[in-house]
Amino acid sequence: MSTMAPAPAAHIKPSNDPLQLIDVDHVQFYVGNAKQAAFFYANCFGFTIDQVSDLSTGSRDAAHYLLTQGNIRLVLSTGLSAEHPAAMECALYGDGVKDVAFTVFDAEKAYDRAIKNGAMSAYEPRTYKDEHGTVTMAGIRTYGRACHSFVSRTGAYDLTNIKQGGIFKPRFKKVTGLSVNDFNAKHPCGLKYVDHLVGNVELGKMNYWVKWYEDVLEFKLFKHFDDKDISTEYSALMSKVMASGNHLIKMPINEPAEGKKKSQIEEYLDWHHHTPGVQHLALRTDDELHSIAALRARGVDFLTLPDAYYDLVWGRVNKMLKEHGHEAVREDHDAVKKLGILVDADEDGYLLQLFTKPLQDRPTLFFEIICRRGSQSFGKGNFKALFEALELEQERRGNL
Ligand code: FE2
Repeated sequence: MSTMAPAPAAHIKPSNDPLQLIDVDHVQFYVGNAKQAAFFYANCFGFTIDQVSDLSTGSRDAAHYLLTQGNIRLVLSTGLSAEHPAAMECALYGDGVKDVAFTVFDAEKAYDRAIKNGAMSAYEPRTYKDEHGTVTMAGIRTYGRACHSFVSRTGAYDLTNIKQGGIFKPRFKKVTGLSVNDFNAKHPCGLKYVDHLVGNVELGKMNYWVKWYEDVLEFKLFKHFDDKDISTEYSALMSKVMASGNHLIKMPINEPAEGKKKSQIEEYLDWHHHTPGVQHLALRTDDELHSIAALRARGVDFLTLPDAYYDLVWGRVNKMLKEHGHEAVREDHDAVKKLGILVDADEDGYLLQLFTKPLQDRPTLFFEIICRRGSQSFGKGNFKALFEALELEQERRGNL
């Protein structure tokens, strides 16, 4: 069993398939104040504040900060006037994910194919160009306020160069002299890449969006959980996981299911202008204990689980692993409990995961920190325990 987590993109060869996704190019957040948000993600999660595009680089309408860690690239964007779409969307939804952008071989061809497959355009192909190379981008709309950009790069803007610290796009410049960047280089949190990305859609719309990902992006259904799997006495959800052809990215889609009390999906929608959007971003680590300890030391607020969780989990997980001929969970059980980490297993192995509380004042977007030891699922066995913990949080917010 492999313990290191190779970036999925490593195996991809050039292809004629315009919808072959090479990598998650970046995830763009629309935020109220990118300059300040950059420090939150740097201080709490260990991201490097790598590059900036703002008035000083000739960006007159918006400020963008490129944050990097491993193969994760976040772009935090703030509009500089009330008319900028980022400003308008922040008023409606608060801070959150706007764009999950994919690197492709030819952005224009990928866009044309997606449109032919039935996508609605978010914006037409445009090329940013200077003497160093080009970045071509084109966007399609997905659920609610979210979109997918296709990005193709040439010259110095090739993704291989970006990964080695090259300039992200024309009108970006490197950020220098930040002590938080020096600190993070010496004290890494170990986050490697985006493992999966979950969307919340409206009641009754899950299958619509499953079909959309099949038709438009030519994804396949990966796993299916129904509301019997993921429910507590009071609230529930339904979830289906869509995977890109090469399994580069997995995108579970949630919809609320009927429960006695308000589900976490409904709570999200209530505080997100009744509009679907990205619920959580799961970031992959090779060492869950190290990452969670580092993030806790930096003040990241994680969900807390009832103590009783650990009375049952080792029996459940190690039994499953033994049945399928896998070694038992090798991480120190006491350390796992002390750090409040969740554990789950399936026929392929196990995983360790933990969820943050919402990353902004509205109970909307959060992060998951995940480490896979063979398991390819999403922690189904934890959902009940997790939901009970989430409901406790919802109750504290008066939203149950
Ligand atoms: Fe997840």
